[in-house]
Amino acid sequence: MSDYRYLLSEREIPKFWYNVVPDLPAPMSPPLHPGTLQPAGPQDLEAIFPHALIEQEVTAAQNIPIPEPVLDILRLWRPTPLHRAVRFEKALGTPARIFFKNEGVSPAGSHKPNTAIAQAYYNKAAGVKRLTTETGAGQWGSALALACNFFGMECMVYMVKCSFYQKPHRRTMMECWGATCVPSPSELTQAGRKILAEDPDTPGSLGIAISEAVEDAATHRDTNYSLGSVLNHVLLHQTVIGQEAIAQMKLAGATPDIVIGCCGGGSNFAGLAFPFVPEKAAGKNIRLIGVEPAACPTMTKGIYAYDFGDKSGMTPLLKMDTLGHDFIPPGIHAGGLRYHGMAPLVSLLHREGVVEAVSYPQVRCFEAALAFARAEGLIVAPETSHAVCCVVDEALKAKEEGKEKTILFNLSGHGHFDMAAYEKYLAGELADYEYPEAKIHEALAHLPKAC
Ligand SMILES: Cc1ncc(COP(=O)(O)O)c(C=O)c1O
Repeated sequence: MSDYRYLLSEREIPKFWYNVVPDLPAPMSPPLHPGTLQPAGPQDLEAIFPHALIEQEVTAAQNIPIPEPVLDILRLWRPTPLHRAVRFEKALGTPARIFFKNEGVSPAGSHKPNTAIAQAYYNKAAGVKRLTTETGAGQWGSALALACNFFGMECMVYMVKCSFYQKPHRRTMMECWGATCVPSPSELTQAGRKILAEDPDTPGSLGIAISEAVEDAATHRDTNYSLGSVLNHVLLHQTVIGQEAIAQMKLAGATPDIVIGCCGGGSNFAGLAFPFVPEKAAGKNIRLIGVEPAACPTMTKGIYAYDFGDKSGMTPLLKMDTLGHDFIPPGIHAGGLRYHGMAPLVSLLHREGVVEAVSYPQVRCFEAALAFARAEGLIVAPETSHAVCCVVDEALKAKEEGKEKTILFNLSGHGHFDMAAYEKYLAGELADYEYPEAKIHEALAHLPKAC
């Protein structure tokens, strides 16, 4: 009889975040100031971020201690369980062993609170009273609403318009924790008003919502901005996932051959995969695969260049895989994967061949998610379904080759607020979006002329 779950006690929560920077095969390119296009210094970020997070953004230290008040809140749901998907293996008829980390057990339903709690803590400690942010699918907005609630702070969330209407209950969830949530683009900011004047029917994008949240923070004294992915410190906070997974895989007597995570801005993938980078660098044959939507193929079809993090060009420029900050992805249901860029750390590891990237259309992803739900009972978020789709491909490849591979993936969130998407899939009404090559070329033509 195989075990289904591998659990750690509350006391076994990692006490440090793992920083991949010292283990990178090549140096990181510095962020550039959006006005001068010269390397941005910490002072350029101080208008919207607290000092402690800026320090984490640039540190080369390997291990960063997790403050006690952060650990105390993480303990409400961490360590998260590591499951072995025995029934899914059987359903696929694969000799592969499939393990997954279940981040869907957090109060907000995804991995996002791992960094939301840390970010709210450091902002509170710096005397900040209010945080603004963007959200795609609503998972990040919910996570920050939860975190602000715990630390007694106000929270303002700009939610990408198409997701706002696809998932109205995410907004209610944020309101339960005391946050305010508006559809983006909104009339509340200059950036939003400008975009609405050009295209009143725009579905919105994460790039647009970031512009609004950054503008709001930069124009209010007591307010800072908080980002749910992409930046180094966000990926850092997610590494509790991979560190726990390493300990839990030991309990299971297994080591992964393949580590898989879906990629929006790259944080849940990095959180699981980065702690395996030292083993890979030491020569272990381990594949780290990031999975993105075919409708927003940042790593698989984008270019590695300096670009803005937002639509309006207000953020520092980051060297990253990008489709261009003007790119507005089609309104697929995996709202959290509709981002034009990719975390600089993930991008660099991708360009250096440490990380592989694949992309899948959404209908295949829902098909995989349904097979998973019917075998394991868990209904995953549309974002996570991309990781599941890749697991299916790799498990079937192992079957074809008769190899006993060990696969580990990140179940980054549950899909309980995504029934409208599942309903469409079940009714056969879900469409795949062709890779909009012409639109991507158009967006790439507008890249800033840096480097
Ligand atoms: C459940 C879930 N998974 C994955 C993502 C993608 O983000 P990231 O690549 O930063 O993990 C999101 C983003 O909202 C999400 O909600």
